[in-house]
Amino acid sequence: MTPSDNDYRRAVDLLVAGELVAIPTETVYGLGADAANPDAVAKIFAAKGRPADHPLIVHLAGHDAVDHWAEQVPAVAWELMETFWPGPLTLILKKQAWVPAAVTGGQDTVGLRVPGHPVALELLRRFAAAKGEHAGIAAPSANRFGRISPTTAEHVGEELGDRVPLILDGGACKVGIESTIIDCSRGEPVILRPGHISPVHLEAVLGRQPAVETAAGAPRVSGSLEAHYAPVTPLRMVAGERLLDFINAQRHRGGKCAVISANQPPQAGMPHAWRLMPADPVGYAHDLYAALRDMDHAGVDLIVVETLPQDAAWTAVADRLRRAVAGAGQG
Ligand code: TXA
Ligand code: MG
Repeated sequence: MTPSDNDYRRAVDLLVAGELVAIPTETVYGLGADAANPDAVAKIFAAKGRPADHPLIVHLAGHDAVDHWAEQVPAVAWELMETFWPGPLTLILKKQAWVPAAVTGGQDTVGLRVPGHPVALELLRRFAAAKGEHAGIAAPSANRFGRISPTTAEHVGEELGDRVPLILDGGACKVGIESTIIDCSRGEPVILRPGHISPVHLEAVLGRQPAVETAAGAPRVSGSLEAHYAPVTPLRMVAGERLLDFINAQRHRGGKCAVISANQPPQAGMPHAWRLMPADPVGYAHDLYAALRDMDHAGVDLIVVETLPQDAAWTAVADRLRRAVAGAGQG
């Protein structure tokens, strides 16, 4: 799972030459390009089929590079970096004037993060050694636009295979869902995308739980589009107590379904694909995208997901599933 010295060299050569490299992070795999090179960044949008006004996250080797990309960085943002970097937290900050509009979607802010994955960090350090100490890698999730984010190198191959010259394999992603995004560019920090780092974690630094503001259309956070993270197969959420009846009714109509549930083990006599998920939100998040991907390949007409607990700890997973339902079945 560890890339060789040669793999890293090839990755750096490709990035310096303005080409794409898929990289592992602790959240999901990213599709990376030199963030200071607008032509290279344009290749990301082409490979994903993503609208060009969606801003990208710039990945950095360490805090030292932040001032090169952002200005008027508030004290609270430095505290968040100290506490959570390297790790699954993206900060939205006022951008420096030079930062390419291709990266920021034409906005006056930039998203920055130091990822907590040894392969990503090693690549970022080597890229900075080659390009200059503040160099950054712009990387959205390495899936086609609107589809399920990849959490293994194989998934990236399925999504983008021939569109990316190199996929660095760093094993399965530990967190499994995208970073928490917090906007520090408009006064009081606000969560734009929930993730593994939760309001409770953030409270330890901020002294209170930040507001969550994921309203579609508000800032250009592509995670805020309703349809996202979506399988090709239609997807439905069904309450646990109705699950078996629902599946039986479906069968009697001749429909095949796949089931994703954290509480009910595979049922005897049900020839369907059945995935028993971890019953805690961290474990569930870790397995979520791989489960959706597997079920999408199971040759069924419908993926049935048991509804989640209403608890705040499940917010990030519930957010991804809600968007997956909105976007499913459109392939
Ligand atoms: O965990 C992650 O964040 C992964 C890994 C690869 O680092 N990346 C990721 O990228 O999820 P992407 O492009 O799929 O999602 C990035 C999100 C988008 O919703 C984008 O709109 C938002 O970050 N974003 C980036 N810059 C922004 C900005 N200046 N203002 C508001 N939202 C921004
Ligand atoms: Mg994405």
